Amino acid sequence: MNKVETAVVNSPPRRWLQRLYETRALLRIGGRLLPGTRALEIGCGSGYGSQLVMDHFGAATLDAVDLDPAMIERAGKRLATYGGRVRLAQGSATDLLAALDAEDGSYGAVFDFGIVHHIPDWRAAIAEVVRVLAPGGRFYFDEVTAHALARPSYRRLFDHPIEDRFTAQQFLDELTRRGLVVVGSTTRIRGDYLLGVAAKTVPARV
Ligand SMILES: C[S@@+](CC[C@H](N)C(=O)[O-])C[C@H]1O[C@@H](n2cnc3c(N)ncnc32)[C@H](O)[C@@H]1O
Repeated sequence: MNKVETAVVNSPPRRWLQRLYETRALLRIGGRLLPGTRALEIGCGSGYGSQLVMDHFGAATLDAVDLDPAMIERAGKRLATYGGRVRLAQGSATDLLAALDAEDGSYGAVFDFGIVHHIPDWRAAIAEVVRVLAPGGRFYFDEVTAHALARPSYRRLFDHPIEDRFTAQQFLDELTRRGLVVVGSTTRIRGDYLLGVAAKTVPARV
């Protein structure tokens, strides 16, 4: 993230939007987590979303990863009050084994507050989310689409990969292609933003 985006993402209006609009919308679609759920946040930034996952979604424990060590340091300060219930790691959402020793099926829920559009190989990030989700687990996502990223204002102010970005439909299709079932989703501002929840189905018994 460049300086402008770091300031915008961590500004009081963005926090307000994340808590009062995005969290409520995601809870309406996917509900709170089951008691005892082990959650993961990819691209946790300064840890405000992690706080929401603990306090509003009801995670029992949370692992959170971010590529930027400065963000992990900020998140560590913010999340210190949760003690051993929260574990932070520097690393990439595309390799959670390296970052967090995350085995297949490790988490009951994965959260993405606006990070997958930052990743050049965004499909690899989705594949990794699906890998670490337990059967029956849920992926809560809040994403910025190619539609927003193509806007001149976005391109002038922020620094994102520009090749091979996804529309809302392409993101949802990739989740389905990887075997998730989309529980519900919504777009806002003419397709600029996508929010939703997808579930990893429990394999049928034979
Ligand atoms: C727009 S910020 C969102 C931060 C946080 N989720 C929030 O809503 O405040 C995107 C974050 O993704 C992180 N990021 C970018 N690529 C990443 C990757 N491959 N793996 C993990 N984190 C990544 C950046 O360092 C940045 O903190």
